[in-house]
Amino acid sequence: MLLQGKTALITGAGRGIGRGIALAFAEQGCDIAAAARSADEVNATVDAVKRCGRRALALIADVSNEHDVRAMADETLNAFGHIDILVNNAGYASFKPFTELSVDEWRKTIDVNLSGVFLCTKAVLPSMIKRGSGRIINISSVAGLKPLIDQSAYCASKHGLNGLTKVLAMELRQYGIGVHSICPGGVDTRLAQEAMPDRDKSDWMTPEDIAHACLYLASLSPRATTDEIVVRRFSSVPIGG
Ligand SMILES: NC(=O)c1ccc[n+]([C@@H]2O[C@H](COP(=O)([O-])OP(=O)(O)OC[C@H]3O[C@@H](n4cnc5c(N)ncnc54)[C@H](OP(=O)(O)O)[C@@H]3O)[C@@H](O)[C@H]2O)c1
Repeated sequence: MLLQGKTALITGAGRGIGRGIALAFAEQGCDIAAAARSADEVNATVDAVKRCGRRALALIADVSNEHDVRAMADETLNAFGHIDILVNNAGYASFKPFTELSVDEWRKTIDVNLSGVFLCTKAVLPSMIKRGSGRIINISSVAGLKPLIDQSAYCASKHGLNGLTKVLAMELRQYGIGVHSICPGGVDTRLAQEAMPDRDKSDWMTPEDIAHACLYLASLSPRATTDEIVVRRFSSVPIGG
């Protein structure tokens, strides 16, 4: 098993891509701390992880709330002793023309997708630095690599996240900590359904497609790293193409 004896804290693990990552990791021997705001969904993920024979912890936390995030990290460390892998996956999207975008929608997008990653990383880092190892995997988007009409706030948050990821990859390597991003294209989840209700999603990816890439990053040897993985729909065009 690729992650035998490891522990992972995964945000947004109640459904969609985060739940897919939690289950893929658990199937490879990883214990899971699953966080999100909806208790019923987090508990369902935890039950599924336990059915894989792994330890699992349910954490109710809003990643944009500093107090919640500190409590989330503390609870995970108390339960598991250490965190090998942090997956910053929780995300928010509201797609509309910039002229119609409210200040609240702008702030919420940046607060969850960018500041949330800042807060979660800050909360987990001291324990990783102390151990001299760790992997931080940020779930970004192809919207972090190219402009997309009606996605101004989302594109800004994901471009920012890709920048943060690269700086942290340089700053944290001295502590043995790898920092990576995954940039998915369209994945059929609730976020996508709500942000793009009219798009045909018959050829969109599933959370398992992204979980596969995440498992690759989480199981890299300490000698190797991969900065960024783009996982796009087979029918889409390459970035920059
Ligand atoms: N679906 C796509 O096409 C696509 C493409 C590229 C990138 N992504 C990225 O993939 C990530 C996961 O999205 P998804 O598509 O899997 O969406 P999803 O199915 O709607 O799941 C989002 C998860 O994040 C949690 N979440 C949202 N806001 C949160 C907050 N403030 N604090 C804590 N948890 C929060 C949700 O739970 P609660 O609401 O209960 O908190 C849920 O568990 C996001 O970062 C998204 O930007 C998605």
